[in-house]
Amino acid sequence: MATARSDGSAGGLEGVVVADTRLSDVDGERGRLILAGHDAEELGGRISFEEVCALLWSVDADRLREQLADARVEAFARVKSLGGALALADGMSALRAALGQLTPSDMDEAIALVAGTAVFAAAWARTRAGASPVAPDSKLSHAADYLNMLQGRPPDPSRARELDTYVVTVSDHGLNASTFAARVVASTGSDMVSAIVAAVGALKGPLHGGAPGPVLDMLDAIGKPERARAWIDAELAAGRRIMGMGHRIYRVRDPRAAIFEKAIERLAASGTDAKERLALARAVEHEAEESLRAKHPERPLRANVEFFTAVLLEALGIPRAAFTPTFAVGRVAGWCAHVLEQRATGRLIRPASRYVGQTPGAGTGDPPR
Ligand code: COA
Repeated sequence: MATARSDGSAGGLEGVVVADTRLSDVDGERGRLILAGHDAEELGGRISFEEVCALLWSVDADRLREQLADARVEAFARVKSLGGALALADGMSALRAALGQLTPSDMDEAIALVAGTAVFAAAWARTRAGASPVAPDSKLSHAADYLNMLQGRPPDPSRARELDTYVVTVSDHGLNASTFAARVVASTGSDMVSAIVAAVGALKGPLHGGAPGPVLDMLDAIGKPERARAWIDAELAAGRRIMGMGHRIYRVRDPRAAIFEKAIERLAASGTDAKERLALARAVEHEAEESLRAKHPERPLRANVEFFTAVLLEALGIPRAAFTPTFAVGRVAGWCAHVLEQRATGRLIRPASRYVGQTPGAGTGDPPR
């Protein structure tokens, strides 16, 4: 049995292969991410979200663009009837509740879920800010329409393009925790909505998708590059983790960090005020790496996807509370693809646990009181 820790206890499943997939591959030693047969660097900034969905789902991209636009309109028609779901304080809880109200018989589950994730995430963020939800615009691309529904106006082309860079790049990433959760549910023969709701619950956690908001909190708290080292060392001394650093698979810098850095540079060049934030983030990354190297010389802890996600989504004008829901807007493409792939295997995922409790008759023999 695979064990994760030096004390021999099981728990993290690292290195355990539980699925064959053609969707994506993460090479943690070399820092290479393959998405549907392409290097992630070749896709981010070059293709649209609809096109990456088409690659992952093996369908026609033009037709999918129309279907997704129609499905956003259908999802928006449901917004009024979502009741308390959109009033929840946390965006991922809202998304979980809202997506859970979709019925598995919906025309095409994957399309309805992808459309619903963008529509409900935007409607939740607007409601939270005390504004009315904004209807989708079928003429826009999925990424541009998400910004439109979030911000109440169609984005300029450079912002739409960089949101595409983001959602394409995060659309799939091997058997991460949320994707695994989706595959486990799918393997029981349950419906796709249930699988995606489980994945949303997993992505919500700070060790998975919940880190970018705290990364920005950290940048705010540090404020100036020269304060980074002392702040980070104090966090580590207090036994806290540095958000946006470290990864279960990557032993080098997460390749998605470089893709997002380039996107932020492009935004900074096109007139947003991202330049200063990027400079601070780079300084914090450098100091965090140095401090973590000193504390854990045995384990490379480098920037992960969340570190520059925070800076990129901020530069796109997305509110901090909507960062993890925006991650879901991209990752739902991969979740749906994995559910379809898992279904095709027809095999239940059912691992084993090691019993470390008492065996009746082997201990004192006294019954519990
Ligand atoms: N800051 C400080 N220490 C860290 C760290 C971080 N970001 N990431 C890992 N470590 C330390 C752990 O405390 C642990 O130290 P210990 O052996 O003294 O207890 C050691 O490195 C190994 O950590 P472990 O939890 O076994 O690694 P993992 O593979 O399970 O963790 C993450 C991967 C992503 C959960 C972890 O790096 C983390 O919590 N990062 C911060 C949250 C984050 O950015 N999440 C987004 C992930 S994309």
